Amino acid sequence: MTNAPQRAIGIDIGGTGMKAGIVDLREGTLVSERVRIPTPDGATPPDVLATAKQLVERLGPEGEDLPVGVCFPAVVKDGITLSAANVSEEWIGLNADERFGEALGRDIRFVNDADAAGLAELKFGAARDQAGFTIMTTLGTGIGSAFLFDGKLVPNSELGHLEHEGESIERWASASARERDDISWKKWAGRLQHFYEHIEAVFSPDLIIVGGGVSKNPEKFLPMIETRAPIVTAVHRNNAGIIGAASLILG
Ligand code: BGC
Repeated sequence: MTNAPQRAIGIDIGGTGMKAGIVDLREGTLVSERVRIPTPDGATPPDVLATAKQLVERLGPEGEDLPVGVCFPAVVKDGITLSAANVSEEWIGLNADERFGEALGRDIRFVNDADAAGLAELKFGAARDQAGFTIMTTLGTGIGSAFLFDGKLVPNSELGHLEHEGESIERWASASARERDDISWKKWAGRLQHFYEHIEAVFSPDLIIVGGGVSKNPEKFLPMIETRAPIVTAVHRNNAGIIGAASLILG
């Protein structure tokens, strides 16, 4: 007999949307509807915390009393958010772990969003039983990354901030850059090709996983990208963040 919780809530905070769901921790699957609220303009701490509370409320009685894992688009060390690329700079240096715990009134765990997605793929998806070095990338408002080595997460890699023409490469190659610049999938795949070539030249991963919202439509761009290592879509697509954040409850 074990007292480990069997369900937890995962909250995935992105630059554009905040999403939550109840996760079965043995299977790594969503067992509720996925609720979503647009990220408040400016993504300041009070607004994001209030929205996280609303998300949990929207999950209804099923979600009551469940522990919560939260993932967030910033470097996270010891519960403190140390960067803020697509959210308010007020997050920098904040003890976000504590703030979410207070706002939600529960036991919470707190982690970077791409690291959460990587953990979901490690425990329940494309990186399960994968030996060697896997790099997970999430393509959304920004570009997130997770380094997975021999079954473990090496936290806080930030490949979206590799430099390209004086800026973070995510400004040019993220999914939101494709929309902003109104370019074809082919042209965007060319930008991603540049990004993944750079990653392979520097890190030589054994597997590359592509997650984020666009991983729902991989046929539009993935076949146009050539890498040495196999490149695959995240099994949990855009739910990987929710599932990985919830899975932190198991330690
Ligand atoms: C942030 C990362 C985050 C990524 C995806 C980047 O701008 O620096 O921490 O993982 O966006 O949300």
